[in-house]
Amino acid sequence: MQDDLTGRVALITGAARGIGRAIALALARDGADVAVADTDLGGAQETVGLVSRGRALALAADVSSEESVTSLYSTVLAEFGGLDILVNNAGIFKVTDPLQVTAAEWDSVMAVNARGTFLMCREALRQMMPVGRGTIINVASTAGKSGGSVMAGVHYAASKAAVICLTKSLATYAAPSHIRVNAVAPGPTTTEMTAAWGAETNARIAGQIPLGRYGDPREIAEVVAFLASDRAGFITGEVVDVNGGLIMD
Ligand SMILES: NC(=O)c1ccc[n+]([C@@H]2O[C@H](COP(=O)([O-])OP(=O)(O)OC[C@H]3O[C@@H](n4cnc5c(N)ncnc54)[C@H](O)[C@@H]3O)[C@@H](O)[C@H]2O)c1
Repeated sequence: MQDDLTGRVALITGAARGIGRAIALALARDGADVAVADTDLGGAQETVGLVSRGRALALAADVSSEESVTSLYSTVLAEFGGLDILVNNAGIFKVTDPLQVTAAEWDSVMAVNARGTFLMCREALRQMMPVGRGTIINVASTAGKSGGSVMAGVHYAASKAAVICLTKSLATYAAPSHIRVNAVAPGPTTTEMTAAWGAETNARIAGQIPLGRYGDPREIAEVVAFLASDRAGFITGEVVDVNGGLIMD
């Protein structure tokens, strides 16, 4: 068992800012070489600039596009020679009233959060299963367990429930190849996503959290770093709550 991530290659999606950036920095700190993927290439490059050890590469990719996902994997494999850790963090958030959600808006949320996570997992498993090594961590949400009681649209909550379910399905599927697939389910966390909700809403929601505050992206990243490591070697198909006590189950 190796304690840190030295010699491992990690691919993190949605890592131009927020939780994804914190995850990329935590995995790099622990010794991994990191591929930082996002639709926002400038932000991904900024994340790479913050990495202080190992190799880091910024890549433009849209996880909702099969073509973009395939091309992302070609580049990662050519540049790094393999993939050990995939973190599916890219996601979009909507809080539209259910009666106002159009078919197009439903599809757009599902395309990134659910289909994007699946496409990225499928390509990772195509690489990892023949080698018999690797791990995947998907970023879900408390909304995917609760239905979005504090703040979330029906489509966002449903997309994160899909992430939780596909995590368990793929964990079962890949376990015979010694590949672990887990998820984290963050509660409200201080990022640009939640900043958009406004100070008043954020104060109200923080008041509903037993620990009385939002999470810091680094607190989500530490759990991902643990799940990515051999220290979590007997954990698969698990959804780890990181939510200040908002949901206890
Ligand atoms: N912030 C929270 O309170 C919170 C709570 C629970 C779950 N989450 C989940 O954590 C993840 C990160 O959240 P965040 O708050 O850091 O969000 P954020 O909006 O700050 O960052 C999301 C990143 O994903 C990228 N992205 C969006 N669509 C993409 C696509 N199609 N392909 C590639 N990249 C794409 C964006 O460019 C952005 O850099 C999301 O999946 C979100 O649903 C966040």
